[in-house]
Amino acid sequence: MYKKRTIIVSNRLPIRIERKDNELQFIPSEGGLATGLGSVYKSDENIWIGWPGIIPLNTQEEEIITQGLAEHNLIPVFLTEEELKGYYEGFSNEVLWPVFHYRPSYAVYRTPDWEMYQQVNAKFSQVVDQQNVQEKDEVWIHDYQLMLLPQLVRKSYPTIAIGFFQHIPFPNDEVFRSIPWRNELLNGLLGADLIGFHTFNDTQHFLNSCAHILGLNVQNNCLHTDGRSIFTEVYPMGIDFDKFSQLANSEPIQTRAHSIKDYYKDQKIILSIDRLDYSKGIIERLLAYENLLVKYPELKGQVVLYMIVVPSRDHVAQYKQLLDEIDRTVGHINAVFGNNEWTPIAYFYNSFPLEELSALYVSADICLITSLRDGMNLVCKEYIASKENTDGVLILSELAGAAKELTQAIHINPNATDQVTEAIYKALKMPVAEQRMRLNDSIEIVKKFNVRHWVRLFFSRLREIKLFQQNEMAR
Ligand code: G6P
Repeated sequence: MYKKRTIIVSNRLPIRIERKDNELQFIPSEGGLATGLGSVYKSDENIWIGWPGIIPLNTQEEEIITQGLAEHNLIPVFLTEEELKGYYEGFSNEVLWPVFHYRPSYAVYRTPDWEMYQQVNAKFSQVVDQQNVQEKDEVWIHDYQLMLLPQLVRKSYPTIAIGFFQHIPFPNDEVFRSIPWRNELLNGLLGADLIGFHTFNDTQHFLNSCAHILGLNVQNNCLHTDGRSIFTEVYPMGIDFDKFSQLANSEPIQTRAHSIKDYYKDQKIILSIDRLDYSKGIIERLLAYENLLVKYPELKGQVVLYMIVVPSRDHVAQYKQLLDEIDRTVGHINAVFGNNEWTPIAYFYNSFPLEELSALYVSADICLITSLRDGMNLVCKEYIASKENTDGVLILSELAGAAKELTQAIHINPNATDQVTEAIYKALKMPVAEQRMRLNDSIEIVKKFNVRHWVRLFFSRLREIKLFQQNEMAR
């Protein structure tokens, strides 16, 4: 009997390929999605389709990459420089990303980028078609780079189960409406049977867009079009709790955390970790920290902002500008407030190995998340999972999806500088018993609603919906 396969599709594969000294290196991702879906794509005949992060030099190299990835059940979609520029940098990251993060003024609408977005989504669909897909299989498509793909796959396989998950926010319909190609994007998504978002608001915004822009009939969380029922639901993504908690409690990490603590012995560590992105509120965070040093000068020499910014999308103009602004602001704060013995901000523009991040989570007194918009934010969950045996306080932007779950964090509006400053001050002074009580509550949530739970829930619902649709058709 045919055993159904699961086909995962996302822009990036969970292994990235880099060329170093003329050698190809296969680098596994530590990201949440890669870990969460690990047990799925590595088993049976399941596969994961996506971009391997490299442009091969020639067909021979392409072949080597394809074979190397095949050993891990991964299928590459190779993209040319022109495709990456139009589809990834252009349409995905200069239209969809800013608009979906409520920065429509950052959007640059270029028709050739839209055409390239369509072309690359079609290319992904062709790669799906090449996999000898059967109607019994199920396809799970991820994120805003592939919004047209559900409908393209639906055209090839009219009754197959298709799930789509959006990892970033979905804006309200008036903001979404500003995109010239909004109808095509919505229709692209409607090829799926189940469309998942991190928060209730995201689902409502999507449903409102379908009702107000496409004029579709919406009943609760269900849409009806082309004789099909499409469900829109909330699935807040979790992390691999056990991985972070075990790492945090391991001897090497404990030792490393002690040495970080020793190094900053008279200082409380305020930790922040983000990809370089204007949605993360990095400048707003720096201003609140500067305000703290002005308002509470006695804290000079007693705190350090340990700020890691992971390089990202640095070919996109807005990201280059942001990097300059961060450099200037950090330089200014360190120059004005620092002295021979003390540097207020330890700033790193680099990616760190997981072990070092874990040691930082363990040693940090405060984790400061100031996103101006964030689909979920997994850093705060990683911090919580690392805090079973050490104290600490999470300050979390109310504009991050995670704030809906982590109600015991100190919530802030990152635009309210004084409020963020006071939240840091409160966290610095918070009694240990209160820290513990808040952490324990959050740990329970992050532990229970972990990434495996998220994957299980999504798939079981997709299967349930498929059965429901089959019964509906049989009637
Ligand atoms: C966000 C998006 C992902 C994306 C990641 C890194 O988390 O939701 O789809 O892969 O950022 O961005 P990048 O552009 O480097 O893939």
